Amino acid sequence: METHFINLAIFLRATLPFLYTLTILLFSTTATATISEISRGFKATPNSSTETFQPLLYDSSGNFSLGFLRVNKTQLALAVLHVPSSEPFWLANPAQLARWSDRTHLTFNGSLVLSDPNTKFYWSTHTDADHVVLLNNSNLVTKSANQTELPAWQSFDSPTDTLVENQNFTSTMVLISTNRLYSMKLGADFIGLYANFNKGSNQIYLRHKAMEAKTEIVENQAPIYAQINPDRYLGMYQTGNPLPADVQKFNSFQTPVTGFLRVRLEPDGNLIGYFWDGSTWVLDYQAISQTCELPSACGSYGLCNARNGCSCLDNRTEFASGECFTAQSGDFCSDGVPRNNFWVLRRNGVEPPYKELMRYDTTSSLGQCEKLCERNCSCWGAVFNNASGFCYMMDYPIQTLVSVGDETKMGYFKVREGAGRKKMNVGVGAGIGVMCGVVLILVGIVGAWRFRVWKRKRGGEVKSRFMDLNGGVSPGPYKDLGSASFRSIEMGTT
Ligand SMILES: *[C@@H]1O[C@H](CO)[C@@H](O)[C@H](O)[C@H]1NC(C)=O
Ligand SMILES: *[C@@H]1O[C@H](CO)[C@@H](O)[C@H](O)[C@H]1NC(C)=O
Ligand SMILES: *[C@@H]1O[C@H](CO)[C@@H](O)[C@H](O)[C@H]1NC(C)=O
Ligand SMILES: *[C@@H]1O[C@H](CO)[C@@H](O)[C@H](O)[C@H]1NC(C)=O
Ligand SMILES: *[C@@H]1O[C@H](CO)[C@@H](O)[C@H](O)[C@H]1NC(C)=O
Ligand SMILES: *[C@@H]1O[C@H](CO)[C@@H](O)[C@H](O)[C@H]1NC(C)=O
Ligand SMILES: *[C@@H]1O[C@H](CO)[C@@H](O)[C@H](O)[C@H]1NC(C)=O
Repeated sequence: METHFINLAIFLRATLPFLYTLTILLFSTTATATISEISRGFKATPNSSTETFQPLLYDSSGNFSLGFLRVNKTQLALAVLHVPSSEPFWLANPAQLARWSDRTHLTFNGSLVLSDPNTKFYWSTHTDADHVVLLNNSNLVTKSANQTELPAWQSFDSPTDTLVENQNFTSTMVLISTNRLYSMKLGADFIGLYANFNKGSNQIYLRHKAMEAKTEIVENQAPIYAQINPDRYLGMYQTGNPLPADVQKFNSFQTPVTGFLRVRLEPDGNLIGYFWDGSTWVLDYQAISQTCELPSACGSYGLCNARNGCSCLDNRTEFASGECFTAQSGDFCSDGVPRNNFWVLRRNGVEPPYKELMRYDTTSSLGQCEKLCERNCSCWGAVFNNASGFCYMMDYPIQTLVSVGDETKMGYFKVREGAGRKKMNVGVGAGIGVMCGVVLILVGIVGAWRFRVWKRKRGGEVKSRFMDLNGGVSPGPYKDLGSASFRSIEMGTT
């Protein structure tokens, strides 16, 4: 009897650690790896204690998850997240967020339906499917017993700001940056990036035409599509032709690197390609490599200089906190009646970063060019090139211009009365010396702070990423213009 008891004790002692591990494993997997398939009758509600992301569904690799993403503390997006980096790849409702409330539901009855009765928000896949699964490439798809090949609905057909390898980007799709300022669309034979600086102004700022080196695009035939090829390039194809009409190589092109690829239309308007090296996203491609060529590198009424970074168009204003005047919107027309509620700022030696893509009139003098803009209440500014006679006009609030040595490129800009200057420069005598000292110290402090923020972001800090989902420009490593370290940082990543 006693020996039996001792044997049991020995047995328990030997197996307990194992049992413990087993129990922990069982519990942790049931607690995190919730389900791999959504079936009819499914219902989920956001949990008030969730701080950032509440997973509902995982893919087979565990790399991706569909769940509730908390945005701006109180709002909710249904999102597909890359789990190791907490990077959202897709949002069901980027333009209209639901509330983080127990009255908001995600249900599945053949359609996946997200609804918020209070805001009358309603999003649905409008399908009659049996299941919803998340594939290991982040594509959320519906499945049915009678399904032939293509799913009735897939998230790849309505991308947000991100494309992953093998995802088709067709001419009916659009990528929109999280701040909703920039978009990407396909033309007949090009990829276009557009800025929406004013309601309806769809200023193209980058137009990449297919090189057609390997094959040509046949006009008025099948539509084109773009795709990140796993051979590490962004390709443009004509449907039905497997050969790419255009190849934009990533840095890792023809290298042994194999990490998963994605591109994202960033909040600064750049299109950036990354690969996953197992722990971070490594920059692998950028459509715009020069900071000053970004559509608004220094914010509203800013001036970008390739060597000195950002300053302001108004030389009496100090460049601080990312812009020179508070952001403006609208126009100078009210009910069709032009109003002269603006003052004029002039600056020579400037031009728009994407002037080749801008509409222009030809005028015989600067005065004539200015008049065209002055009298047109939807015009915010004009740049006159004295050599060519081109008069470029902007029908959106002035963004960043590029500083060029040529003083015969002359800018005329309207500034709305009452648009506050960010900071006035004292600029007299001995004051200048003191100011310089203060500025240097501030630049140092801001630089150090930004570097810490940047390091934290790189380290995969989840919250800060989410906070800027709907907010302003998130300072990436190559575009940290506010500080004097602009040049060194830029060099570090190119
Ligand atoms: C699923 O539910 C939504 C919202 O309640 C409803 O509009 C839709 O008709 C339902 N679909 C099916 C297939 O029952
Ligand atoms: C993803 O799934 C496909 C089949 O559906 C498989 O061939 C591939 O190896 C998987 N990739 C990863 C990274 O798990
Ligand atoms: C992308 O388009 C190609 C060619 O039309 C097609 O063969 C492929 O299945 C599509 N891929 C996806 C994920 O839809
Ligand atoms: C997916 O998971 C595998 C295995 O953990 C990992 O090797 C791979 O890097 C992951 N891919 C992505 C894109 O996270
Ligand atoms: C600022 O610009 C005005 C007009 O172009 C010019 O007259 C003035 O000298 C400039 N001031 C400084 C400090 O550069
Ligand atoms: C502009 O061009 C005209 C002739 O084309 C020239 O006479 C004039 O001096 C130029 N103005 C400036 C400011 O360069
Ligand atoms: C005013 O400017 C806008 C945009 O620059 C242009 O579309 C419009 O034709 C102009 N109106 C007149 C009367 O010139």
